[in-house]
Amino acid sequence: MKIPFNIPPKSSNEEKYISQAIANKKLSGEGSFNKKCAEWFNKNLPTLMTVITPSCTSALEMAMVLADIGPGDEVILPSFTFTSTANVVALYGSVPVFVDVDPLTMNIDPAAIQRAITPRTKVIMPVHYAGVGCKMDEIMALANQHGIWVVEDAAQGIFASYKGKALGTWGHMAAFSFHETKNIVCGEGGALTINDPRLVARAEIVRDKGTNRQQFLNGQVDKYTWQDKGSSYLLSELSAAFLLSQLEEGKEITAKRLALWNQYHQGLADLEKNGHLQRMTIPSECQANAHIYYLLLNSSEVRAALWTYLKEAGIQSTTHYVALHSAPAGVKYGRVSGSMKVTDDLSNRLLRLPMWADLSSDEAALVLEKIHSFFKGQA
Ligand SMILES: Cc1ncc(COP(=O)(O)O)c(C=O)c1O
Repeated sequence: MKIPFNIPPKSSNEEKYISQAIANKKLSGEGSFNKKCAEWFNKNLPTLMTVITPSCTSALEMAMVLADIGPGDEVILPSFTFTSTANVVALYGSVPVFVDVDPLTMNIDPAAIQRAITPRTKVIMPVHYAGVGCKMDEIMALANQHGIWVVEDAAQGIFASYKGKALGTWGHMAAFSFHETKNIVCGEGGALTINDPRLVARAEIVRDKGTNRQQFLNGQVDKYTWQDKGSSYLLSELSAAFLLSQLEEGKEITAKRLALWNQYHQGLADLEKNGHLQRMTIPSECQANAHIYYLLLNSSEVRAALWTYLKEAGIQSTTHYVALHSAPAGVKYGRVSGSMKVTDDLSNRLLRLPMWADLSSDEAALVLEKIHSFFKGQA
């Protein structure tokens, strides 16, 4: 049996909605499925305004335009993240300032943020790793005290919350991903949620190539013109149709993942007790979404050996981010603030297990059985 790392989830109405979008003869980002997806976010998170975007990367880019970052500005973020979080900062000539993560969650450490703040700090970008919320109350308190924008990288955060409040509603803005590797997918896609009323009017312009086209469509002006910096931040209607079907069944998809997460967690308790590995932790204030199940092995050598062992058994496990502060572009464009001890250590020992909504409980049991037999061989 082969067990891949990920298979995108299926939902009931993808084909039906795509056919409807074609029949509507409106395929650009102004169509009704885009509107319905945005309304879904506005109502369910809830948030003030949502732009459904071509990717999480483009949502983060749009957030940087709205935060108006430029040369000389600094943006604080974890080094343990995907390249997009830092790349959008470098794109506008600003400096990504890398700080360390909390060993319990691999999420940005608020104390490290506090030490990294300078008069040039314009934005903080917390990344909710594995769909487990960052300490958003502490981060917002720091940001508000210093007049700094907060943009949540909630690429992995849909259907998850921190202290009972949805991820994506804490910061001034938040970016989600619907890439095929995420919990809710449409191939490539994303969303920018906007929670601060000061940003709404500009967001309408920035998302539409810097024009006031929305005012034109609303009949408020008789022609539209170039008003501000912007880009093409709208998702094709065909992808939005697929996405709506997934959002509508998102709770069921998440519940299936959570059941598998619990199966892994219970099945690995004995190995943790025996000191073979450390299981991922979800603090009690976080309601997670089972985006990832990861283990921390005792060394990078054990991780490599387990990865190979599982691969030979037909099971695809994967490592995760190579710390950005040590990557070539991170060295060129970024700066480190404080110690990177936790990031350097844990990023080399972390291994993710197969996780997707339709992974069967038998398949998960096989993964567990193989991990146990690996350690039996080691003892
Ligand atoms: C934390 C984080 N941010 C941003 C992204 C980029 O998402 P997208 O592929 O939708 O641009 C990813 C993708 O894996 C991610 O994990």
